[in-house]
Amino acid sequence: MGVFRWYLFLFSLFHSSYAVSTIEAPRSFSIDYENNQFLLNGNPFRYVSGSLHYFRVPRAYWREHLRKLRAAGLNAVSTYVEWSQHEPSPGHFEFSGELDLQHFIHLAQEEDLLVLLRPGPYICAERDMGGLPPWLLTVKPDIYLRTNDTTYMEYAERYLNYLMSSVQTQLYGNGGPIIMVQIENEYGSYKACDSNYTARLRDIVKNIVGNAAVLYTTDGAGSSYLRCGKIEGVYATVDFGTGTDVDTAFLAQRMYEPRGPLINSEFYAGWLTHWGEALQRVDTDAIVKTLDAMLARNASVNFFVFHGGTNFGFLAGANYMNSYQPQLTSYDFDAPISEAGDPTNKYFAIKEVIGRYLPLLDNTEITPAPKGNYSTVLLSPVAPLLDQNIRQKLGKEPLRSQFPLTFEEIGQRYGFVLYETILAWSVPDPALFSIPGISDRAIVLLDDVPKGILSRSEKITSMPLSVSEGTKIQVLVENQGRINYGSMINDFKGLVTNATLGGEVLEDWIITGFPLHDISRLSVSNNDNYTFQGPAFFQGTFTLPSLILSHLIHF
Ligand SMILES: *[C@@H]1O[C@H](CO)[C@@H](O)[C@H](O)[C@H]1NC(C)=O
Ligand SMILES: *[C@@H]1O[C@H](CO)[C@@H](O)[C@H](O)[C@H]1NC(C)=O
Ligand SMILES: *[C@@H]1O[C@H](CO)[C@@H](O)[C@H](O)[C@H]1NC(C)=O
Ligand SMILES: *[C@@H]1O[C@H](CO)[C@@H](O)[C@H](O)[C@H]1NC(C)=O
Ligand SMILES: *[C@@H]1O[C@H](CO)[C@@H](O)[C@H](O)[C@H]1NC(C)=O
Ligand SMILES: *[C@@H]1O[C@H](CO)[C@@H](O)[C@H](O)[C@H]1NC(C)=O
Repeated sequence: MGVFRWYLFLFSLFHSSYAVSTIEAPRSFSIDYENNQFLLNGNPFRYVSGSLHYFRVPRAYWREHLRKLRAAGLNAVSTYVEWSQHEPSPGHFEFSGELDLQHFIHLAQEEDLLVLLRPGPYICAERDMGGLPPWLLTVKPDIYLRTNDTTYMEYAERYLNYLMSSVQTQLYGNGGPIIMVQIENEYGSYKACDSNYTARLRDIVKNIVGNAAVLYTTDGAGSSYLRCGKIEGVYATVDFGTGTDVDTAFLAQRMYEPRGPLINSEFYAGWLTHWGEALQRVDTDAIVKTLDAMLARNASVNFFVFHGGTNFGFLAGANYMNSYQPQLTSYDFDAPISEAGDPTNKYFAIKEVIGRYLPLLDNTEITPAPKGNYSTVLLSPVAPLLDQNIRQKLGKEPLRSQFPLTFEEIGQRYGFVLYETILAWSVPDPALFSIPGISDRAIVLLDDVPKGILSRSEKITSMPLSVSEGTKIQVLVENQGRINYGSMINDFKGLVTNATLGGEVLEDWIITGFPLHDISRLSVSNNDNYTFQGPAFFQGTFTLPSLILSHLIHF
């Protein structure tokens, strides 16, 4: 109860301080080009912000984590908005529960934070397809994403209008905390360089935002990025980490914005990790040094990310640099606030630097969140995926097709798709089984018995098989995340080419989708007698201690 009362007290404080500023001056936020700074209600201002994506943090923790961000001395929070989750199918918008963006922004305001909004439509963000809805690939398979492609633009415009209208009252000039709205994301890194597209996005957003917030772009700190990233009439900023010289980076911004505040929109406080890599780390001393150098130059800074969180479900993305590189479910990122929500040494080191430039709150005690001791959680097999009963409960209606269909062609976004065919002719033993376009990882089985793995990231696209006429060949394909960065973002999943055996194209497939977004129909009784081979469901249980539940109720 003590904590609860304390938080009501904070509310009333914030309400009165907002009331006072309303009386003193009309709410306004703008760029003071003359003095290379922002003006907040007419007063010189700069932000020290941190990225925290609401879709990577359970709603129950939003307030707590925002408060920790504020307590480090930050005065703003930055979040991407993920189109693919907010419009799961064309024209069907979702903004409630865990996707209640307005509530997140409202909590930020209550916790005394301004907001930098990054609505996309493309966000990269190490998310499946860079946050674009995969159904775009179904609507028009050769869609030219992130350009003035008529189909792409039609959907992007409808979404942006919907989204920006829904947060219009939360723009700073309209009484809310949103001071900055980003257009697209690092567009200068993309192959298209379509200025008609970026100008159109600007006009859509500007039409709703007006002068109630500042529009900006961000790009890599070099003229090769800014050349196509800069949009006429939108403030250009740069992003860079500890490995870059601060003055060189800001010189790049100055080539496109000769006057106005210096801004690093993505100061990398950590780094992302791909499957199979060691966890990436960014050294705290280097962060402290670079941060101090930027703040000494009066720059505004946004940490990317201040709290990473988790890529829940199947929503992690992938990179493609010489090979396909899927990203982890964890998005800890070596960020100042850990994935578990705890302040790290990096957090306190950053707070100390910020304190040299901005006032720190004096009443906040930041402690690690309570933890449970779950000991070892044992997993037991409960059911094989290929079991007829499980197929009926969790699989979609099987489809017949002469040649393989992609996930997108069968209207499935994530999870697994099973491709099965009966060999209708005889082949030499062994014969080479080959799928040049395997997206992304497949278990190959013969008559329900696993024989090996094909993998896009490992570049294993063929294997020898011993088969005869009448053998059932099965390929269970996992989508490991659509590419989120670069020129290959039209990243279809499943078998994206034919499969061949001994050089002959295999035909007459039965295709069963397992989206696995809802496994509540899976029966949950352990079956200790089940000796599994091949894909199966496992179950383990643990109990959440009551101290964790009661901790959450306070927020
Ligand atoms: C923009 O559109 C105009 C007219 O539709 C066209 O002439 C021009 O080439 C386009 N520019 C780009 C960069 O595509
Ligand atoms: C985008 O392209 C369409 C034709 O596809 C054209 O009518 C429209 O003017 C273009 N938009 C801009 C802003 O150039
Ligand atoms: C930073 O801003 C202050 C106050 O406006 C000014 O006196 C100082 O010269 C600025 N420093 C730099 C490096 O621009
Ligand atoms: C967690 O519980 C296990 C088993 O009860 C015990 O052995 C272990 O010491 C505990 N760990 C901590 C950190 O309390
Ligand atoms: C599969 O093979 C058939 C017959 O050769 C061909 O028509 C079809 O285009 C191929 N599909 C793909 C995705 O390559
Ligand atoms: C497991 O096998 C034993 C011995 O055959 C049998 O008694 C028992 O009922 C089986 N349990 C299940 C859950 O099938």
